[in-house]
Amino acid sequence: MQPQLLLDQSNTQIIPELLGDTGFCQQLGIRYPYLGGSMAKGISSVELSISLGKAGMLGFFGAAGLPIDTVETAIDQLAASGVPFGCNLIHSPQEPDLEAALAELYIRKEVKLVEASAFLALTLPLVRYRLHDIHRAADGSIVTPNRIIAKVSREELAEKFFSPAPEKLIIALLQQGLITAEQAELARQIPMAQDITAEADSGGHTDNRPALTLLPTIQSVAQRMQLQHNYPIQLRVGLGGGIGTPQAAAAAFSMGAAWIMVGSVHQACVESGISDTVRTMLAGTRQADVTMAPAADMFEMGVTVQVLKRGTMFAMRAAKLYELYRSHPSMEEIPPAEREKLEKALFLAPLEQIWQETRSFFLKRDPRQVERAEREPRHRMALVFRWYLGQAAHWAKDGTPNRAIDYQVWCGPAMGAFNEWVKGSFLEQPENRRAACVARNILEGAATICRANLLRFSGSHAASLQIKPEIKEYPA
Ligand SMILES: Cc1cc2nc3c(=O)[nH]c(=O)nc-3n(C[C@H](O)[C@H](O)[C@H](O)COP(=O)(O)O)c2cc1C
Repeated sequence: MQPQLLLDQSNTQIIPELLGDTGFCQQLGIRYPYLGGSMAKGISSVELSISLGKAGMLGFFGAAGLPIDTVETAIDQLAASGVPFGCNLIHSPQEPDLEAALAELYIRKEVKLVEASAFLALTLPLVRYRLHDIHRAADGSIVTPNRIIAKVSREELAEKFFSPAPEKLIIALLQQGLITAEQAELARQIPMAQDITAEADSGGHTDNRPALTLLPTIQSVAQRMQLQHNYPIQLRVGLGGGIGTPQAAAAAFSMGAAWIMVGSVHQACVESGISDTVRTMLAGTRQADVTMAPAADMFEMGVTVQVLKRGTMFAMRAAKLYELYRSHPSMEEIPPAEREKLEKALFLAPLEQIWQETRSFFLKRDPRQVERAEREPRHRMALVFRWYLGQAAHWAKDGTPNRAIDYQVWCGPAMGAFNEWVKGSFLEQPENRRAACVARNILEGAATICRANLLRFSGSHAASLQIKPEIKEYPA
C-alpha cells in the first residue's frame, strides 16, 4: 500500500492544533502552537504579525532598533486589527533608558504579551512590566495581566526567568510606589515567565546551540524549577532556531516543545519588512550560506551574529574591521594602505568624515559616547566601525542598490533547509511566500510526519518509507 494512502486511511488523528501545548494556545488565544519571532527594525512587521494572527498563530512585532513613536504606531495598528499579537522587549545594556521607555510604552498601551530577549539578568523595567496590575482573582488565584515569553539559550538565564522576580527589584518597585505591599507579596509567588522559548542555532544573535541538546536542557530546568517553587501553574518550554521545515517542526514537537518559533524563514516572506532584493537573495540561500559576523551592538565585546554570506561581503568586511580594532589602538595607527582600502571599499568616504557624521548622530542620541570617544581614540574607532555595521543592516532593509555587496542580512541555516524543501513547488518563488501559508505547510507537514511515525513505530512497514508532505496553497 502507498504510504500516503495508508496515512489517509489510518484512524490516527494527529492535527497541528494538538502538536504543542493546548493550554498555551488557549491562554494566547491562538489555534496553532506557532509563533513568529521578533525581527529587529520592523522586519517582523505589522503585516507579518497580522497575517500570522489571522491564520490562528501569533507574531511578535520587531520593535528593536526602532524609535518609540514608530513602535507606538505599530501597536495601534496591531490593536486595531483585533488579532492576538506581542512585541519584542529587548535588553539594551548600552541604552537602558530606551529599554525602560519601551517597557513603559507597553504598560501604557496595554500590550499584554512581550518576547523578552537578550537579557543577561533581569532588569527593573522588565520586572515592572511583569508585575503591573498583578492581583488576586475572586477564586484566590494570582492574576498577572502581563505575560512574558522569554527567549534564552542558557540554563542560568532560564533559571532566572522561571524564578520569581529578584527580591531587590521587588523592593525597589515598592519603594518607588510602583507596586503595593500586597502586590510585592504576590510577586514572590509567581515566575517572571511561565514560558520560555529555547533558542537554538538561529539567525541573528545566537549561541549556535544544537536544538537536540538545548531543548532537553531547558525542559530539565523547567522541571527542576517547577518542583523547587511548587508553582500552581505549569512552566512551559517552546523551541526556536533551525525550524523551517515540517521535519524540524515534527522533531521539536516530538521532543515535547510546547510551541515552535520561526524567524529566518519569515524574513523571506512577502509581509516582512525587508527589501525585495534581500527576499530574492534569501530564496537562493542554501544550508551552508550563513556564517557568524561581528555584531554592531556589542562589537567591542567580540559578540557575533549569524548572517547571510552568499551574495554579500559583509561578514568578511565586518570581521576585517574587528581584526583592525583589536590590533590597533586608534584609527590613526592603522597602516595607511589599510586605511585607504577601508575608505575606498567600505566607507566610500574618508574615515574623518564618517566620524563627523557619527559624532553628530551621538550628540543627539547619547552625548556620553562622544565625550568618551574624544578621550579614548579606540572608542572613536569602535564608533566609526560600528557605523559600517549599522548602516549595512539599513542598506539591506532598504535595498540600497550601490551597497548590495555590503548587505547585513541576519539569517540562520533554517533558510537553506526551507529552500530545499520547497524546490519545485509554488513556494520556491519569493513572491509566493505568504507567512500564513508557509506556516500552515510547516504545521500540516509536521502532523503528517508525526502520524507516519506513529505507524512506523508501531511496526507498519509501508509507513517506514520516506514521507514527503504535500505543499498546499492554504488560503490566507
Ligand atoms: C532578520 C532577523 C532579525 C531578528 N531580530 C531579532 C530581534 O530584534 N529580537 C529578538 O529577540 N530576536 C531576533 N531575531 C531572532 C528571531 O526572533 C528568532 O528567535 C530566530 O530567528 C529563530 O531562529 P531561526 O532564524 O532559525 O528561525 C531575529 C532573527 C532574524 C532572522
